Amino acid sequence: MDFPKLLSDIAYLVSAILFIVGLKFLSNPKKARNGNQLAAIGMTFAVVASLVFIFGGGLNGARTAEGLPPLADTHGLLIILGIVLGAVVGAVAARKVAMTEMPQMVALLNGCGGGAAALISTVEFATFMAAKSAGKPVDPLGFGATMFGGVIGSLSFWGSLMAFAKLSGVMEKAITSAFQKFLTVVVFLAVIGTVVWSGMATGHEAMGGNLPFYTLLGVALLFSVLMVIPIGGADMPVVISLLNSCTGLAVAATGFSLRQPALIISGTLVGASGTLLTLLMCKAMNRSITNVLFAGVGSGPVATGGGAATGGPAKSAREISADDLAMLCCNVQSVIIIPGYGMAVAQAQHVTRELGDLLTAKGVDVKYAVHPVAGRMPGHMNVLLAEANVPYEQLYDLEQINSEFERCDVAMVIGANDVINPAARYDKTSPIYGMPILDADKARNIIVVKRSLKPGFAGIDNEIYYDPKTYMFFGDAKAAITKLVEAVKQQ
Ligand code: TAP
Repeated sequence: MDFPKLLSDIAYLVSAILFIVGLKFLSNPKKARNGNQLAAIGMTFAVVASLVFIFGGGLNGARTAEGLPPLADTHGLLIILGIVLGAVVGAVAARKVAMTEMPQMVALLNGCGGGAAALISTVEFATFMAAKSAGKPVDPLGFGATMFGGVIGSLSFWGSLMAFAKLSGVMEKAITSAFQKFLTVVVFLAVIGTVVWSGMATGHEAMGGNLPFYTLLGVALLFSVLMVIPIGGADMPVVISLLNSCTGLAVAATGFSLRQPALIISGTLVGASGTLLTLLMCKAMNRSITNVLFAGVGSGPVATGGGAATGGPAKSAREISADDLAMLCCNVQSVIIIPGYGMAVAQAQHVTRELGDLLTAKGVDVKYAVHPVAGRMPGHMNVLLAEANVPYEQLYDLEQINSEFERCDVAMVIGANDVINPAARYDKTSPIYGMPILDADKARNIIVVKRSLKPGFAGIDNEIYYDPKTYMFFGDAKAAITKLVEAVKQQ
């Protein structure tokens, strides 16, 4: 019996089960942390299984059975060095990254996955070319998967780097023009052309037979740059999710070319969940994926607040002091807190929880309403509120909470804007028309905590600021809520 192979097969099976259970747990805020840990343990199993497979002779055995030449050296030292380096860089980066920089980090990690798939495909293509030039038959499935992994992995790598540049502010604007669109179509056709050329390559071409594949990688680079530059900076999380599913597919493809079950399973899981997440985010914003990719939303002219910039008459909003607000909040029955991007930027989640706890202790029914696309990344508010230890039973989804606003005394909006903009319900010209919103405007009193009347991501005015039921509590979310907490303590 081939003992190392049996051992690695069992470990692959365990890792696949852990990936699936981990993913399932991620859909529940209470179990999400455990889900992440389970998936990490699954990945450890997969890495150990691969090492056993490679060093136990399983890899060369499989290659010989496939008619491929055995590897002369499995470069054990390099593999261990790579694992140690990756683990150290990953652990340090994960510890240091600020929560608001998480989308950038995800973009980089995603790019690494795509880049790894493209590199593996490059090596495999060279192996196929060597076999072809020696007149040996090649497995069409493995060859096709190698090319797929090369194109999609490269697209994912360069696309993710562009997304990283946009999210970190290096290049924010959506660059779009008729020429750029024309060029994208031309380069897309070039990608197809080089795929056909690579498929027909005989192994006798220039550069060791690999010229078509190198050209393919170069053209894929150009295509991914052209694909990402027209997208608005704040739409990047959706794009990253899309690129994430591409990375998954590329990894699954390399799994086919390497005959690696762990890669096939994990790649397919990433591909499927990334696609579902992309579609869910688009649905929550009531936008199609083509609108996200080609409309350049979030890069257009931005309203300055007060109505004048949008052509309407200048409007004024009412302000409230910390003491008056504290008195209001302590003398009502229910408060629904609506966090948004501003709470994330200000890192006001801890002081927000403190406020919620204080009001709860005073007998107020406190709930947190979480919009699916509040903030700038999937689950942004859930992550922050969980970090601040807000009790899970106080967290409500849009569908669960919307019917409660009519009976609610105070809707307290902390750094949110688009997700409560009533224009989404009726204004067909609005970029957020059709997006489901939290019905804060239906509450008896509305408090908005932000620094000014300026708009959010969509760049549009919000009529809720001028509603007779609304009071603005201006300031940085953390400073303002801290002031409110002190005032509540005095009540
Ligand atoms: P936004 O509509 O972007 O509004 C955030 C508000 O926070 C701004 O109006 C800003 O006003 C305020 N703010 C900024 N810094 C602040 C600070 N330090 N203290 C207090 N307030 C601060 O946010 P939202 O309501 O969360 O909506 C999210 C938007 O992003 C939606 O349009 C959504 O479609 C889009 N989007 C979301 C995602 C995901 S996956 N979540 C992905 C792509 C796009 P001031 O400048 O006046 O303070």
